Amino acid sequence: MAIQLGDEAPDFTADTTQGTINFHEWLGDSWGVLFSHPKDFTPVCTTELGMVAKLKPEFDKRNVKVIGLSVDPVESHNRWEGDIAETQGTAVNFPMIGDADRTVSDLYGMIHPNASDTLTVRSVFVIGPDKKVKLTITYPASTGRNFDEVLRVIDSLQLTATYPVATPVNWTDGDDVIIGAAVSDEDAKAKFPNGWKAPKPYLRIVAQPGR
Ligand code: BEZ
Repeated sequence: MAIQLGDEAPDFTADTTQGTINFHEWLGDSWGVLFSHPKDFTPVCTTELGMVAKLKPEFDKRNVKVIGLSVDPVESHNRWEGDIAETQGTAVNFPMIGDADRTVSDLYGMIHPNASDTLTVRSVFVIGPDKKVKLTITYPASTGRNFDEVLRVIDSLQLTATYPVATPVNWTDGDDVIIGAAVSDEDAKAKFPNGWKAPKPYLRIVAQPGR
């Protein structure tokens, strides 16, 4: 069965461009992003890997470790990294798993046979410090991802893990948020003493806490 939100992220040991990694051990207490790309030496993937490398400081700031994967071997990743540095202006600064035997791809359901029998789709798994899966995204090979959106969702996941709030449509860090449905008005008075706007009883809008 496909991995679902709240499931424990399957653990594995794999060869990567930064040596052998045991996934859970490597994650430690950090958040994690495990993402697959279809194939080395392909154009869209080249731009994606360059962008993730550029955004590494943003992932670091959020205590998120990033790791990539395709069914190509580590030796191929290593050769491709030269092209990424040359064309995208950034050296790859995170590990990439070589999954030629598809162990990890199968564990995470990253091969969708009706899309391709042989290549991984563009999967993203965000994993919390409790090793539970917090977010899954799947894009087809023909569409590059928006990694700013991955960061935006991580901001929401980290905020809502800390405070009893939810984030509305198109929210970005610093915008107002919504008081969680499970919080009674009575409890909300204690938690949000500066008050909130409530255009409907179920729509209680409050300044982002913790800022
Ligand atoms: C690409 O990254 O451009 C790509 C990879 C596999 C299939 C199609 C496109």
